[in-house]
Amino acid sequence: MTRVPLLSVENLTVQFRGDRGWVTAIEDVSFEIGAGENLGIVGESGSGKSVSALSILRLHGRANTRYASGAIRFGGRDLLSMSERELRKVRGGDIAMIFQDPMSSLNPVLTVAEQIIEPLQLHQGLSAAAARRRAIELLEMVRIADAGRRIDEYPHRLSGGMRQRVMIAIAIACQPKLLIADEPTTALDVTIQGQILELLRDLQREIGMSVVLITHDLGVIAEFAQRVLVMYAGRVIEQAPVAALFDRPMHPYTDGLIDAVPKLEGDLHRLTTIPGNIPDLATVIPGCRFNPRCREAKDACRRDPPALLPVGPDHLSRCPPRAAAGGAV
Ligand SMILES: Nc1ncnc2c1ncn2[C@@H]1O[C@H](COP(=O)(O)OP(=O)(O)OP(=O)(O)O)[C@@H](O)[C@H]1O
Ligand SMILES: [Mg+2]
Repeated sequence: MTRVPLLSVENLTVQFRGDRGWVTAIEDVSFEIGAGENLGIVGESGSGKSVSALSILRLHGRANTRYASGAIRFGGRDLLSMSERELRKVRGGDIAMIFQDPMSSLNPVLTVAEQIIEPLQLHQGLSAAAARRRAIELLEMVRIADAGRRIDEYPHRLSGGMRQRVMIAIAIACQPKLLIADEPTTALDVTIQGQILELLRDLQREIGMSVVLITHDLGVIAEFAQRVLVMYAGRVIEQAPVAALFDRPMHPYTDGLIDAVPKLEGDLHRLTTIPGNIPDLATVIPGCRFNPRCREAKDACRRDPPALLPVGPDHLSRCPPRAAAGGAV
């Protein structure tokens, strides 16, 4: 790859301590995102999307988390080896995050104003009056009508879509270079989902930031991202430009996800799903972690852990192209 990445995650392995010792939540995860690029991360529930995202800013509880291997490079520095103090400047400054659960991320006892003004004063040293003016501008940027009045409301007075807009306004307050949005539209109805994605796309252009968008919905990825990372059971199993992923999916798991995207035509009640469940973190599966659910699994898939290998331009997969897979692999 020739582009200079804004962020590169290299061979990241993260473990958590549970009742029965340490378990590996994500293993050997690598990806890059360029300036102004939109990267989608997709996978079923429990595949390790949020763990990957939260690891970028080291947001897991310290006592029971081990960053067992890897590096996270941002602007030439490794976020994994930064001090907490240095990292605090990056959080909400150059890298902002919209969390998966918007209800718990907005403080119910503070007004919208109080929640937007704080990061502006902290990171940009604005006076109270200047921060309030900027906060109203930000609410207007995220298309909240009557922002001058809405800013003094408490979160519970706002609709779900409006709360998500406020979250986005807080996230972009300091003009981040990178926005990590973890399932920003999942709790919203379809119309509002579309509006929020459009808003993110507009803001991305206006601010020139990069966006990592996490979702379990490949339909959302198709609309939003340029490149896609497909995760399964804590590993990246395929990575490709969005068009290549839909035109030539290489991994049977990706095939399954694509089949599960609701089609406009056809019977909405008969959605395909991938049979079986994602394994528990403590379950050891020899070979390819997807093999117990894979229709195409062969002996080698049950024996040898597959490597993530190039299968096309900027396209990596842990499953070889099908024609070759019929052979001795
Ligand atoms: N702090 C933690 N301690 C222990 N296990 C954790 C912790 N955080 C996540 N996990 C486990 O790691 C695995 C991956 O979780 P993660 O939250 O990344 O999934 P996800 O892909 O974001 O799923 P979803 O679509 O449901 O949000 C899950 O098995 C989860 O239970
Ligand atoms: Mg998640």
